[in-house]
Amino acid sequence: MTYTPQTLAARAGEEAAPHSGRPLIEGIAASTVYAFDSLTDLEAALSGSSGLPFYYRNGTPNAATLERAVAALEGTEAAVCAASGMGALLGAFLAIAAAGDHIVADQQAYGGTFALLTAELPRLGIEVSLVDATDLEAVTAALRPNTRLLHVEALSNPLMTVADLPALAELAHAHGARLSVDSTFASPALLRPAEHGADLVVHSLSKYLSGHSNAMGGIVAGSRELIESVRLRLVRLGATVSAFDAWMTLQGLKTLGLRMRAHAGNAQAIADVLSNHPRIERVYHPGLEDHPQFELAQRLFPEGYGGMLSFELRGDLEEFVARLRGKIPLAPSLADVASTLSYPAGTSHRALSPEARAALGISDQLLRLSVGIEDIGDLLADLEAALA
Ligand SMILES: Cc1ncc(COP(=O)(O)O)c(C=O)c1O
Repeated sequence: MTYTPQTLAARAGEEAAPHSGRPLIEGIAASTVYAFDSLTDLEAALSGSSGLPFYYRNGTPNAATLERAVAALEGTEAAVCAASGMGALLGAFLAIAAAGDHIVADQQAYGGTFALLTAELPRLGIEVSLVDATDLEAVTAALRPNTRLLHVEALSNPLMTVADLPALAELAHAHGARLSVDSTFASPALLRPAEHGADLVVHSLSKYLSGHSNAMGGIVAGSRELIESVRLRLVRLGATVSAFDAWMTLQGLKTLGLRMRAHAGNAQAIADVLSNHPRIERVYHPGLEDHPQFELAQRLFPEGYGGMLSFELRGDLEEFVARLRGKIPLAPSLADVASTLSYPAGTSHRALSPEARAALGISDQLLRLSVGIEDIGDLLADLEAALA
């Protein structure tokens, strides 16, 4: 049958060009829907029995590939991608807690997480108690019969407190609750929270897992049963990742091990230098002996602590930032291969009152440095010139 140009154009590209072998790098699957030749095949896809994709929001091949890769890295049965780190956290929280339930969370959390926990979840009828998760007695006191979840950051943003995952997992499980761990600052190259008892592990993909500030997404890893529950929420909420962002993250993920070693080595060297610098009041980094959880950090992070550190500067912040212009830019994110600087009081924690920030220890002189993988000599020279 000969079709008109109108029909030929509308159906163009439905048959992919033949090739021998398989592409070494999976292509970006942009199709928002898949076509089936029978109702049986359609049913197998929608029921999940074939495991094949059918509609973009429910999951693309790129997201599925990334999910398998991260589950393997975290040592969990499964993982599910979300549209952002916040989407991943929301999916994790809603999979575990419903109206009438209670969540205990570390008060030292990323500002967005803090806002989700304190401003949004209570509107859905989920009660939230914030505690100092380094104080195990305070955590125990906060757990209630209806507590379903204990949520912490493996390394907190921005003060780099270290969560005692084995102890927290034991506490949560003894009270019939689950432990979820935001491991964004650590990455599975340095820490696998499931090995320490975490039930759910959450990452912002836009940080170390992608590594180049060019992909947005989140991921939750855990048991198949819990992850399917998270996936259901994310699909219903419309908060799944784009194929492009999943694909970009996969490209970055390939160098995760190399990058994390370089980030960690550079951050430790900078923490050592800054902690002895007259213009620096205080440095927050788990690899410094004066860090309150130095020994715990050594136990949990034998391969290094990642690239994040914070410090309080003596003197004019604006002048310091200006002196780093063209070298280490002010950028409200983290984990890029290039070093960036952030101002927690004005970015991640700006929604908090000055009193609330002070209570958390986030001072107006605090800067957070995301140490990149540049040559350490160059980085130290830039920082020392800016501090001079
Ligand atoms: C520790 C941590 N968790 C979660 C998030 C949220 O991730 P996203 O910005 O991808 O939503 C961030 C963002 O900075 C973060 O630092």
